[in-house]
Amino acid sequence: MLKRTHTCGQLRSQHVGQDVVLTGWVNAFRDHGQGLVFIDVRDRDGLTQFVFEKDSVSGDLVETASKLRGEDVIAAKGTVRVRAGGGNPKLATGEIEVVVSDLEVVAKSDVPPFSPSDEDNLPGEELRLKHRYLDLRRPKMQNFLRTRHRIAKIARDYFDEQGFIEVETPYLCRSTPEGARDFVVPSRVQPGQWYALPQSPQIFKQILMIAGAERYMQICRCFRDEDPRADRQAEFSQIDLEMSFVDRDDVISMMEGFARTLWDKVLGVNMPTLDRVTYRECMDRYGIDRPDRRFGLELVDVSDLAAKTEFKVFTDALAKRRGVVKAIRVPQGTTELTRKITDGYSEFVKQFGAGGIPTTKVAEADGKLTLEAGIAKFVGPIADDLIERLGCEAGDQILFGADSYAVCTKALGELRLKLGADIGLIDETKWDFLWVIDFPMFEHDEATNRYYSLHHPFTAPNPDQLEAFLAAKDDDVDAIEGIVSAGYDLVCNGSEVGGGSIRIHQRDVQARVFKLLGMSETEAKDKFSFLLDALRFGAPPHGGVAFGLDRLVMQLTGTDNIRDVIAFPKTLNGADLMSQAPNAVSDEQLAELNVKSTYVPKDV
Ligand code: AMO
Repeated sequence: MLKRTHTCGQLRSQHVGQDVVLTGWVNAFRDHGQGLVFIDVRDRDGLTQFVFEKDSVSGDLVETASKLRGEDVIAAKGTVRVRAGGGNPKLATGEIEVVVSDLEVVAKSDVPPFSPSDEDNLPGEELRLKHRYLDLRRPKMQNFLRTRHRIAKIARDYFDEQGFIEVETPYLCRSTPEGARDFVVPSRVQPGQWYALPQSPQIFKQILMIAGAERYMQICRCFRDEDPRADRQAEFSQIDLEMSFVDRDDVISMMEGFARTLWDKVLGVNMPTLDRVTYRECMDRYGIDRPDRRFGLELVDVSDLAAKTEFKVFTDALAKRRGVVKAIRVPQGTTELTRKITDGYSEFVKQFGAGGIPTTKVAEADGKLTLEAGIAKFVGPIADDLIERLGCEAGDQILFGADSYAVCTKALGELRLKLGADIGLIDETKWDFLWVIDFPMFEHDEATNRYYSLHHPFTAPNPDQLEAFLAAKDDDVDAIEGIVSAGYDLVCNGSEVGGGSIRIHQRDVQARVFKLLGMSETEAKDKFSFLLDALRFGAPPHGGVAFGLDRLVMQLTGTDNIRDVIAFPKTLNGADLMSQAPNAVSDEQLAELNVKSTYVPKDV
């Protein structure tokens, strides 16, 4: 094959007159007849125009060129010349073209099911995933791959400079519950025994601290058997870190330094010192622990006013344990939101357990603001106070949520995000970063009467909470739920891009957490004996964080589809459409593993 001298993105006017060889895929072809053919050749670096002229090459060559089609692979030799007519300013190589003197057709392509060069006429994602090799040829997808690589490289360089060492941890692990369901793998050599794929290297990195590694980092794969979403895959990557002899501020400032370097190097964005907002404030004002503050529509507590009405929806809500009434003012909502839309919102919030969304409108009569329509007559006695508290203007619409604090904030928080998108309030040119801190260590679930960790069971209480934590009675739900952890999440434009905590390094504190989570001593020993053992032999105070690599790439490339930033992702039902995983395996293969499938296909 002709040997490449330049890439398809390299040639400029300074190369005019040079003989060059380029290789790549036929991106576009135009046969002007009379022995004049133009071919755009593409490689990962860009596009270059080739000209086949019958005056400068043999008739055979023009004939071969006229038979080239999209996605054929060619190697072409020629001389660089200035493009006529001022060139193509939209193309990096637009000033020049290459007049071909020699051509090799390296590989013909079948007619592709879609053209990687036709960004405006892409098929649905399924076809793109099935033929991922074609999809990844698109310059946009190449950019995702490259940006992902850059982020990984910047991470390795930054943390290397800070004294972190990269250590790999196992993928075949003991199953240790961390929140999601495990993917499990049968052991052939130990019949009846199973490995689990790690949900994260959490315990291993803590053990590395106990082992004296001091500063660990790893770019690793995590596996969680949960339903994929727009920003969630069952198999995803983390930039995972842990540090010894640190407190929360040390970890936060190290990670902030990394995030700042990343945004600066990838986008040239100068990140300010990040706000630290408590979990409680996030929930109160935005109804979510990863708020997107690029728009308003904050939740305002109006429980005290609602208590003065006889509106049953409000009074019933306030009679519940931790019942609240909250409101969102939608500026000029009377024009933006029709009755049909707000009825749709009432349906929307039902999935979060809320009953509906009562609404009313703000109007002006005789120079005074009043409420009309919707539940106006029920909130008549508190109208003036409501208008004042929410800062209403004529034309606004007020949406209410009334339920337990948990249900009301969740429903209004989700509705706020929907409203922001529906009304187009999100300023896509803004960056909004914050650390969310002071999470409760535990949440109590009434239905199962159990505590759950908000982060994971290895998260330490804030140092000022340790005594209260050890003293609180197990059944004192308020006291236990009131314990604040040393956890932190990094949020960027409403996406949780990282999370971590200072860990428990005392065995008795860890044992108490396991007990509160409903694990008996035997159970805790059975599942975590290696961690509990290690904690007996001198554990330094330590803490860390894991960034979601896929989510960082999403933010830094501006896509809202996690599958765009993963070379070979899974669909929403966990399938790799290209290799067609998962697939059935033979009974012999299962027998070797001492496994038998109980699954009976429905149509049998
Ligand atoms: P956590 O579970 O919060 O913490 O995960 C850390 C970060 O990983 C990303 N992430 C995901 N990205 C894509 N798909 C998923 N299914 C997914 N789940 C999580 C998020 C999240 O912030 N061991 C702890 C970290 C620690 O405490 O140091 C952990 O895994 O961006």
